[in-house]
Amino acid sequence: MVASAAIVLAAGQGTRMRSRLPKVLHPLAGRPMLLHVLDALARASVEERVVVTGHGAEQVEAALPDGLAAVRQEPQLGTADAVRVGMTRVPASTRHVIVTSGDVPLLPADLFGALLHEQAEGDAVMALLAARVGDPTGYGRVVRDADGDCRAIVEETDADEATRAIAEINVGCYCFDAAWLRANVGDVPASASGEFYLTDLVALALAAGRRVSVVTAPRAELTIGINDRVALAGAEQLMRREIAERHMRAGVTIVDPSSVRIDAEVQIGQDARIEPGTTLLGASVIGQEAVIGPNAHVVASRIGPRAHVWASIVEEASVGEDAEIGPFSHLRPGAEVGPRCRIGNYAEIKNSRIGAGTQQHHFSYVGDADVGDDVNIGAGTVTANYDGEQKNATLIGDGAFIGSDSMLIAPVTIGAGARTGAGAVVTRDVPPNTTVVGMPARPIELRRRSATTAGEDRNTQTGGGSTP
Ligand code: UD1
Ligand code: MG
Repeated sequence: MVASAAIVLAAGQGTRMRSRLPKVLHPLAGRPMLLHVLDALARASVEERVVVTGHGAEQVEAALPDGLAAVRQEPQLGTADAVRVGMTRVPASTRHVIVTSGDVPLLPADLFGALLHEQAEGDAVMALLAARVGDPTGYGRVVRDADGDCRAIVEETDADEATRAIAEINVGCYCFDAAWLRANVGDVPASASGEFYLTDLVALALAAGRRVSVVTAPRAELTIGINDRVALAGAEQLMRREIAERHMRAGVTIVDPSSVRIDAEVQIGQDARIEPGTTLLGASVIGQEAVIGPNAHVVASRIGPRAHVWASIVEEASVGEDAEIGPFSHLRPGAEVGPRCRIGNYAEIKNSRIGAGTQQHHFSYVGDADVGDDVNIGAGTVTANYDGEQKNATLIGDGAFIGSDSMLIAPVTIGAGARTGAGAVVTRDVPPNTTVVGMPARPIELRRRSATTAGEDRNTQTGGGSTP
């Protein structure tokens, strides 16, 4: 038996957003606002969740978590019509139905619980969530009777001046007795605009001598409905503040919360420090005691404990413990930087594993490479990974020393402990513990010999790796 179900209304066009993206898919803290609503309902232990889709249905349904029931409302004739359609997917055994809107994304789970409790424990067939706000413009107003119960919800367009002055708004979130809702939702009369308003169920309940009770939201700012992009920006700011506070309470230092953006799914370890101007996006995971920023941009990446990332961009990459990244490094998708590495100014790494303790302090490009431990990558090193047709791999063994301005023409392997001279153009594999120089690079002994034969001794410089 299903005790409680929730219907989430998400079929409306959202005209006031002036967007081609369905309103409920506009992101808040990195996730579509609809998913925030569904998460909160799941946390409130609602057993069954049904989403009513319509406008942009295919896009909205594609964004839903697997296994979630969606039902289409075609055409969209108003919120009561949407609930009537939603009820076709609510199991017959359900006793209480929460109805909430996909465009009211900040409601905390405990408010759903409070509504459910209010309706389930009392004799009201409907309990609604109200909030006292500074500016009620655009919302339905809650008119109460002498007992504090709801006498009517009056939509802004239908309200006279006295009713418009009421600062208590209908949040758009309700809990109904399931049997009563099923029996009555189809009887709502059309409004002047031709739409069927869910709010008109109040009049039906009262006419039948039933009660409609009211739960007041303790934090009115969390009841905001997103109808346009101004409200969207307001909600974003609020949600980000909530997220930052949650991390700070859990032991993360955020030096200047107003300049930091942290997405909802980000996890941050204890005693990490987030410096100003930093954005942490997607499902990023930041290790304990890591220092991120100032001015770091981390997207869907893992940063190890005690690592430091400053003034750098890290996207879909991972950074090992105690590593130092930046300033001005760019770790692109698939970069896996090992523990204790030092990656510095204008270093770019893509789809490459970098072993422990490896150093790449200066401007350089490493792509499609597997680099061992304790390698030194000199300034200006380039893995020439693209031959115009395909990407090729570069392998660099442990302890190798890549001299400044080396061009590694992939596919190529540099053996463990090998060295390349400054300006070497490496076109063939280099055996372990061998030094190659020149263009094309050859082992230094061979070059020395041929240079002596020719009476000159050029191009035999080794080293040239720029060090810290
Ligand atoms: C609604 C309430 C209003 C309340 C406000 C709170 C009604 C009549 N009014 O107004 O009292 O103060 O929310 O934010 O309910 N939807 C459908 N199908 C439809 C129409 C709408 O699924 O045919 C969905 C929308 O996608 C949206 C939700 O229902 O998620 C609310 O619709 P919206 O048009 O935003 O109603 P409001 O004018 O905000
Ligand atoms: Mg709305």
